Amino acid sequence: MGTAVPLRRQADRPAHRGGSSVRAAHVTTPSAEDPVNAIEVGNVDIPEAPDGWSRVEIHAGALNMHDIWMLRGVAGGAPCVLGSDGAGICDGEEVLVHPVLPATAGRGVAHSVLLSDRGYGLLAEQAVVPAGGVAPKPAHLTWEEAASIPTAWLTAYRMLFTKAGLQAGQTVLVQGAGGGVSTAVIALAKAAGASVIVTSRSEAKRERALEAGADAALRTDERVPDLVDVVIESVGPATFEHSVKSAKAGGTIVVCGASTGFTAPIDLARLFARELTVHGSTMGTREEFAALVAFVGEHTIRPLVDSTVALDDVRTAAQRMLDGDAFGKLCVAVR
Ligand SMILES: NC(=O)c1ccc[n+]([C@@H]2O[C@H](COP(=O)([O-])OP(=O)(O)OC[C@H]3O[C@@H](n4cnc5c(N)ncnc54)[C@H](OP(=O)(O)O)[C@@H]3O)[C@@H](O)[C@H]2O)c1
Repeated sequence: MGTAVPLRRQADRPAHRGGSSVRAAHVTTPSAEDPVNAIEVGNVDIPEAPDGWSRVEIHAGALNMHDIWMLRGVAGGAPCVLGSDGAGICDGEEVLVHPVLPATAGRGVAHSVLLSDRGYGLLAEQAVVPAGGVAPKPAHLTWEEAASIPTAWLTAYRMLFTKAGLQAGQTVLVQGAGGGVSTAVIALAKAAGASVIVTSRSEAKRERALEAGADAALRTDERVPDLVDVVIESVGPATFEHSVKSAKAGGTIVVCGASTGFTAPIDLARLFARELTVHGSTMGTREEFAALVAFVGEHTIRPLVDSTVALDDVRTAAQRMLDGDAFGKLCVAVR
């Protein structure tokens, strides 16, 4: 057993009440330059579940770009456990964890924060989560597939259905083919009866996207054959101009990320002449999470898993994410 690392305590975090020591992937000293080597795997203390919170025996987790931000010291607060995706056993039931702290009453989802940002990371043998924040695991999913859903798929679900109001028969353009969000968008939009166009820098990823159900796969920046109803944007300045060019009159662009930088110019003439709507979107509510999990069950959708590593090998998965090689989710078998 390694040395137990006490987790960060914050004002809105329940008091530590003599919790246990479990094996986890965590960060003590973030590094902007070398985030992968900032990952540590060892024993950490987690708190007892306070009133209204439950303990989950985590079976699998998955990585997100958010973990890289935590490792870089941009998000969360070291020392802390990594991981916003988790699936496991809670009170004898197989569950997926909604990764968002209950929003401050009346402030809405945009003000909510991830569990991992407040010291409740899920890449651990056990985690403590809000009791109402779990959903039953669809029976057709493996643990890794279930762990793929909470962050990327919830983000995709809210973007498509809450923000863009996607309807059957509409066309969605998703920038980037291989990311967790992009692969979720392909599956969810197709199941909803929409057509999906993806863009990717990689020919191999374009082929994989077509296999995954996309109707067309274009090179990054390639002109769309027909302007689209909805654009799903998470790449940022590398694709944003193309997103604006590709939306039809009255179309909607939904932005959830900015992997290539936080500032992008916008063609204002197109914005007003086409009466485009641009939404920001972040994660999703418990209600959306429940609806997403039910939708996945109803349509027997299987999230694309790029690869699964053991907890001890999280660095390998993080490097693969940084290299941009993954197609689908990078999963972690915790037990
Ligand atoms: N707001 C939220 O609640 C929320 C939730 C989840 C994720 N996010 C954000 O959404 C983004 C995607 O997340 P993810 O987990 O899906 O990440 P990911 O797996 O790293 O996916 C990144 C995608 O970006 C594309 N990409 C990266 N660099 C590019 C470039 N220079 N030019 C064109 N395309 C590029 C890649 O496309 P190709 O390699 O196919 O070209 C890939 O599909 C991240 O910024 C993340 O922080 C936000």
